[in-house]
Amino acid sequence: MARIFIVGSGVVGTATGKGFLHAGHEVTFIDIAAGRLNYLRSQGLDARDRLDLRNEPDSFVFLTLPTPNEGHRYDLTAFEDGTTSVGEALADATGTHVVVVRSTVPPGTTEGLVQPLLEKHSGKTLGEDFMLASNPEFLRAASAVEDFMHPWMTVIASRSARTVERLTALLAPFGGELRTFTDPAAAELVKCAHNIFNATKISFWNEMWLVSQALGLDLDPIAQTVARSAEGSYNPYYGIRGGAPYGGVCLPKDTQGFLGLADSISLDMPLLRAVVRVNDVLADRTAAGGRTDGALAAGRSA
Ligand SMILES: NC(=O)c1ccc[n+]([C@@H]2O[C@H](COP(=O)([O-])OP(=O)(O)OC[C@H]3O[C@@H](n4cnc5c(N)ncnc54)[C@H](O)[C@@H]3O)[C@@H](O)[C@H]2O)c1
Repeated sequence: MARIFIVGSGVVGTATGKGFLHAGHEVTFIDIAAGRLNYLRSQGLDARDRLDLRNEPDSFVFLTLPTPNEGHRYDLTAFEDGTTSVGEALADATGTHVVVVRSTVPPGTTEGLVQPLLEKHSGKTLGEDFMLASNPEFLRAASAVEDFMHPWMTVIASRSARTVERLTALLAPFGGELRTFTDPAAAELVKCAHNIFNATKISFWNEMWLVSQALGLDLDPIAQTVARSAEGSYNPYYGIRGGAPYGGVCLPKDTQGFLGLADSISLDMPLLRAVVRVNDVLADRTAAGGRTDGALAAGRSA
């Protein structure tokens, strides 16, 4: 049984903590919002307004703090405040605690922000007095606890092999595919790319919905057919190697040709324009000596 603290007990924190409780671990929820604490306590959960690591055994401290955006940037104010409070608690700690960044954060945050804040406020040293890892969450808000209990993917990253091992032992029993990295930034980018990919796919089909509206067609049966016909849709490995543009006859022709069709019906297709632009940028880079290991191989052209 592990000792677990959840710092930031909202949607993700509560699902994470409840999942660990179900698995038999001892969990304490931390939050600064009185209403949230009352809600958690009303469910019989151990909920506190500050982290206190005095006399606690070696534990896992999960940071599930909010990381909202403000325009085109992440607002990490609450995340920094919560991380600072963990650093202060580490100052008085006797055990060797593993701090786990589970919030979605920009790549580089675990080592560039969390580590220095923890070291500054604890007066302790990463790797000697405490450990650090990234373990992004993939759950969906609507089925949060269920998704935590049955993950389809678990990503763990830490410079410390022992920490990866300890987190693996904690999380592997929940099942799902396990991927580990040594660089926390890689795990952080997995989560950002995951969300951006999903957003891009949704915007793609919304742009196609605008096309079908303009052409008087019903998108649904068309999209359902393409979902099964386009290799990029049914094969998860198609097109995922970066560093080389698409080529061949069909993809360049039909992306550019369709932009002309859109123009002719006065329809703006910003995503399709961006697709062509990104490909042009990559073509220039490749010509200037980009990736040369055959990433342009079959599957990237049609
Ligand atoms: N909601 C989702 O479906 C989802 C899924 C995957 C990842 N995420 C990511 O997980 C993170 C948390 O998201 P969420 O939806 O659970 O947010 P949330 O707003 O539901 O919960 C955050 C909690 O942190 C508390 N908090 C704020 N400052 C604090 C501090 N200094 N100390 C302690 N507690 C503090 C808030 O009171 C709140 O209860 C974000 O980075 C988010 O992007 C969310």
